Amino acid sequence: MPETRRRAEIIGWGMYAPERVVTNDDLAALMDTTDDWIRTRTGIERRHIAAEHQATAAMAIEAARAALAVADADPRDIDLVIVGTMTPDTWMPSTACAVQNALGALHAGAVDLNAGCSGFVYALTMAHQAILSGEHELVLVVGADTMSRIVNQEDRATAVLFGDGAGAVLLRAGEGSAGVLATLLGSDGSGADLLAVPAGGSALPASAETVAQGLHYLSMDGRQVFRFAARIVPRAIEQVLERAGLTLDEVDWIIPHQANLRIIEAAAKRLQVEESRFCVNVNEYGNTSAASVPIALCEAVERGQIQPGQQLVLVGFGAGLTWAAAALRWGPSVQEAPAVFYRRWLRWLIYRWAELHTRWLRFARSRAGRAWGGAQERWRRMRRKRE
Ligand code: UT7
Repeated sequence: MPETRRRAEIIGWGMYAPERVVTNDDLAALMDTTDDWIRTRTGIERRHIAAEHQATAAMAIEAARAALAVADADPRDIDLVIVGTMTPDTWMPSTACAVQNALGALHAGAVDLNAGCSGFVYALTMAHQAILSGEHELVLVVGADTMSRIVNQEDRATAVLFGDGAGAVLLRAGEGSAGVLATLLGSDGSGADLLAVPAGGSALPASAETVAQGLHYLSMDGRQVFRFAARIVPRAIEQVLERAGLTLDEVDWIIPHQANLRIIEAAAKRLQVEESRFCVNVNEYGNTSAASVPIALCEAVERGQIQPGQQLVLVGFGAGLTWAAAALRWGPSVQEAPAVFYRRWLRWLIYRWAELHTRWLRFARSRAGRAWGGAQERWRRMRRKRE
């Protein structure tokens, strides 16, 4: 008998990685490091870095539009947009609002979620709960970070590790056996100092002094974070599987946060699972923070690695300290559907309309817009008088 309970099912996925690629050798030419050190200590070979004009929202929008195209969905049907990020375009408003607006997702609420590198899996969990509540049918979840903007490019301990990018999934309420099976969230705020951007918040507002001291950059105790990750990743996987009523043998793919190949190898060893069951792309992108899990998921789906009916575990960890895991069954209905021609055009039109509409609203709210509105009003009054 097929199960009939409400589930959040992934029906679309998309990713964006900036064009500019920085190799280990490029970095070795700028600082005291080597390709060999970076490869052997982290597994990273290159990373993609955002262009000057790009920031988190721009990448998130690209990934979100790709996810909508895969699902062949209408952005106006989205109920909620959640963006997992710790590098929003601005502290306020949220990046999610920029994504919602650029998609023309007129009926959607929008919110950012900061759980460090666990941001995407946290956001996925929130989206799953929003759908289970019965309040939402279609939820867009994005993980996006522009780490190059908060990393000190002269600090070899961190500059070599991070990259920029975005990944997105579209979740729809379904009643089949596919979808999110169980989730797990964790936090240990005692580790706040291990991975942080000390200045720029309400505790230590940005000032000339904080900038002079480099406190607006990410600081990390790499060894401690490594120890935490090596311990928490296998534990989170085991716990979420227990909640889902699955054993490790029943899991086809594990998609971990891509911070360091050695962390993934340590987790595989501790769980006694072949490393080949972990989806890994840290070599290509480095640590893209909240974007790393959805980018790895997208690539695995697009390679044809993940097949309908297979069971996956997504697991993230990062600043906070935080960790999160989700067990899910990939659905038969999530195979890339051929997009209906007119719907592709409709989406294109909605995106252009969203752009123009935003410009118009901003104009109308500006002084010039108010003056224009006043002139129109006066003209209308004059006409009424003449009549
Ligand atoms: O998204 C979650 C956040 N981050 C993480 O998950 C990161 C977790 N931590 C790690 O991945 C690793 O701890 C690192 C890759 C950051 C560092 O690797 P490690 O094996 O723990 O190296 P280490 O920090 O113990 O440093 C070893 C040596 C040090 O030199 P000394 O003190 O032994 O002389 C460092 O100064 O390597 C030196 N070092 C470098 N050498 C060349 C540090 N960075 C570099 C570098 N190139 N880029």
